[in-house]
Amino acid sequence: MKRILILGGTGFVGRALCEQLQAHPGFAGTRLVVPSRRRERGKHLFPLPQVDVLEANVHDDAALARLLRDVDAVVNLVAILHGTPQAFEQAHVTLPQRLAAACANAGVRRVVHVSAMGIQGGVPGDAGAAPSQYLRTKTLGEQALWAAPLDLTVLRPSVIFGAHDSFLNLFALLQRFVPVMALAGGDARFQPVWVDDVARALVQCLLEGSTAGRCFELAGPQVLTLSELVKLAGQWSGHARPVLPLPMAAGRLQARALGLLPGEPLMSTDNLDSMKVPNVLTGTLPSLQDLGITPTPLEAVGPAYLGRPVSWADRLDQWRTRVNR
Ligand SMILES: NC(=O)c1ccc[n+]([C@@H]2O[C@H](COP(=O)([O-])OP(=O)(O)OC[C@H]3O[C@@H](n4cnc5c(N)ncnc54)[C@H](OP(=O)(O)O)[C@@H]3O)[C@@H](O)[C@H]2O)c1
Repeated sequence: MKRILILGGTGFVGRALCEQLQAHPGFAGTRLVVPSRRRERGKHLFPLPQVDVLEANVHDDAALARLLRDVDAVVNLVAILHGTPQAFEQAHVTLPQRLAAACANAGVRRVVHVSAMGIQGGVPGDAGAAPSQYLRTKTLGEQALWAAPLDLTVLRPSVIFGAHDSFLNLFALLQRFVPVMALAGGDARFQPVWVDDVARALVQCLLEGSTAGRCFELAGPQVLTLSELVKLAGQWSGHARPVLPLPMAAGRLQARALGLLPGEPLMSTDNLDSMKVPNVLTGTLPSLQDLGITPTPLEAVGPAYLGRPVSWADRLDQWRTRVNR
């Protein structure tokens, strides 16, 4: 491939994907085009010689058409976890719809889309069963892409862990400052998957055209509850705190209060609603093993990055990310 467009490539998964594509002999010489709303957000990608980070508004049809020029494949990683109903709609539904139309105009057929575990198949347009804005809009976006004349592969990961995650790192950070972790939804089940395994799956899909038309669920080898994950984050970061189960109603109040803090919210009631759907393999779809990837267990990676001392530069980066700078 000469050129791959990676929407949402400045984020957590995008970073791992760009690093792997850059190092892969099958993509030697491939230009990796990463648009961002603010080019500075992709500064960690600047040292990668094959990556071009551009400032562009992917919600503008003309800009999207320009980005798709001479592109052999698109990877879509754009998503948000918190926001207004309009923001969810724009990032998860309207963008995939416009991407499908723009690909048709530009003659681009190959698209790999990262969706989320917990998405129901359903009939096109029907996302009524999903309990949260996040899952409802992710379902509709996925359906819009399936309905388009594309060579589409969809990946549905469970929660993703890795050195730059904002899930286990957040729980580790919180436990530095609070004496007790009050937690709602502690029995929600996850099957955490390593970001490098997700990136490997994306690379594999880009290499193998035969994955078009297929949907893969990406998960690690273990099922863990939210409460177990919070305890591991505390233990590995050296600040283990007792976990106090909160009833859901109190959890919703806590989420609303956390949403009032400045910067990106730490938690929202929509996140709690998403946790009503188990984030574990359904067993009805192919998984990492079907792509020739052995999933990495959390304990093989988690202690190393959660236990390392956080440098001042890393801490500044975390705060910049939280306040969208
Ligand atoms: N992380 C997880 O645990 C997890 C679990 C399941 C599924 N997933 C899925 O995996 C994919 C990648 O997730 P991630 O963790 O890498 O996300 P991330 O770190 O939050 O990155 C999201 C990317 O989307 C872009 N973006 C966000 N809102 C946008 C908007 N309104 N318009 C245009 N671009 C926007 C951001 O680009 P700029 O800020 O540079 O513009 C950023 O590069 C997503 O589809 C997500 O739903 C993630």
